[in-house]
Amino acid sequence: MTKDKVEGRCSCGAPSEDDVRKAVRERYTRVALRDSSCCGSDSENMCRCGSIYSSADLVSIPSEAQVASAGCGNPMAIAGLKPGMTVVDLGSGGGIDVFLAAKRVGSDGKVYGIDATPEMIFRARKTAEENGFDNVEFRLGEIEHIPLEPNIVDVVISNCVINLSPDKDKVFGEAFRILRPGGRLAVSDIVLLRELPEELLGDMSAWSACVSGALLEEEYLASMSRAGFVEVQVVGKDVFSEEQLGGYISRDEKKSDLSSLVASAKVVAIKPS
Ligand SMILES: C[S@@+](CC[C@H](N)C(=O)[O-])C[C@H]1O[C@@H](n2cnc3c(N)ncnc32)[C@H](O)[C@@H]1O
Repeated sequence: MTKDKVEGRCSCGAPSEDDVRKAVRERYTRVALRDSSCCGSDSENMCRCGSIYSSADLVSIPSEAQVASAGCGNPMAIAGLKPGMTVVDLGSGGGIDVFLAAKRVGSDGKVYGIDATPEMIFRARKTAEENGFDNVEFRLGEIEHIPLEPNIVDVVISNCVINLSPDKDKVFGEAFRILRPGGRLAVSDIVLLRELPEELLGDMSAWSACVSGALLEEEYLASMSRAGFVEVQVVGKDVFSEEQLGGYISRDEKKSDLSSLVASAKVVAIKPS
């Protein structure tokens, strides 16, 4: 069996990189343009909205960023941010984690948000400008080709994004490149707990909803190690029930059991000094 470019999966029925990027961009353009919370009927991915952040955090950031929130965890809880740090958020969306990080690193620090969907970048820049965040910068770009210099970042965070990439090895390689020696990677992301049911393998809607692109947990950790990271560890895991997951995947007919298929995992790793 030949391996496809996308994640080394079997090429039979596997989507192309172009298909993945197109589906992801279309979905998150819609999210960027919405004006009500993702917790409503337009919920389009695994996001947990306000429930993953403390109310103290939520009141400290612009509501425009909360409305566009589409994460599945809270990387802030594991990022260990301190005043003065330089932080990068991979797939920053409407900017919720960038704004939370900006509060923590303060005026001596800097937070970059990177996102490939122009409407997300426009929205996040507008929110930053209207709310006086001058220690943040949003750059349009792919996380497989991060538009930043090497060795300049203290902490890389990401929230429910790397699963969407058709080339996770490249993403972790890029995170490693921009981190300074001793820097930290702290991500919340969707991982598979068992093999994906065949019916979901080439399903672009399920991919852009953060399901079909997810790697098995052990593959995810191995990809980080291949990039050069050490002390790779899962520090928290929240398993989705069939009911929770079913709401994100449209299927004509229920075919396979979705219980305990995916989890939102918090993972940390270090670039060696
Ligand atoms: C599920 S949303 C999460 C957004 C944000 N992290 C949050 O917690 O609200 C995924 C985001 O990642 C972006 N994205 C997906 N794949 C990307 C890639 N390969 N490069 C850059 N951004 C990407 C999408 O445009 C979208 O804004």
